[in-house]
Amino acid sequence: MAQSVRIAPSILSADFSKLGAEIEAIEAAGADWIHVDVMDGHFVPNITIGPQMVKALRPHARKPFDVHLMISPVDPYLEAFAEAGADGLTVHPEAGPHVHRTLQHIRKLGKKAGVVLNPGTPVDALDNLMDLIDLILVMSVNPGFGGQSFIESQLKKIEAARKRIDAQKLIDGRDIALEVDGGITPQTAKRAIAAGATVLVAGTSVFQGGPSQYAANISALRG
Ligand code: DX5
Ligand code: ZN
Repeated sequence: MAQSVRIAPSILSADFSKLGAEIEAIEAAGADWIHVDVMDGHFVPNITIGPQMVKALRPHARKPFDVHLMISPVDPYLEAFAEAGADGLTVHPEAGPHVHRTLQHIRKLGKKAGVVLNPGTPVDALDNLMDLIDLILVMSVNPGFGGQSFIESQLKKIEAARKRIDAQKLIDGRDIALEVDGGITPQTAKRAIAAGATVLVAGTSVFQGGPSQYAANISALRG
């Protein structure tokens, strides 16, 4: 399992005055995906970036843009983020009245469809959606800010999501990505991987120390 883990640095922890250069630096340092945290000050208590910024940043990387939408309502903005260059759009079931329809819409836009579970959202929220999901994101902190501590109780949810993914693979042969986001350090990374995670989002632990440390920080998370 561990051999195929992907690292998705969250640019929330980058130097916002030079985001293009920061993205180039993490890609050169071995990032597999670029994790973009979109926050609206309403669904979560923080405001970050919008589609215009995603569009401006897109030419700075070749790796996939993994766009985590923490906005409500989310449906009116799917197209704008798709056009801006997102490769995957991940949505919270609480961010709209019809998550199934939202996932259908993302697929129709030709993008990878992700569902994200907050620490308080039960894994059952995935029921009846598995055939439409390309990625499951388990939040190991409450969304809104970088630099928080990993919430231990989410390891059980990662295990439960892994079971669902393995069962779905027997049905349609697809390998749904299992991503974990929040408080990922070399220590918690190991535990998340052991629980079944295949993609690790990390902000603080990748960007600490500045560009000269990015490669070492990323490889420390691979375990
Ligand atoms: C939180 C974001 C995360 C966050 C992770 O709402 O979804 O992606 O930036 O930051 P760290 O790795 O610092 O917990
Ligand atoms: Zn995120």
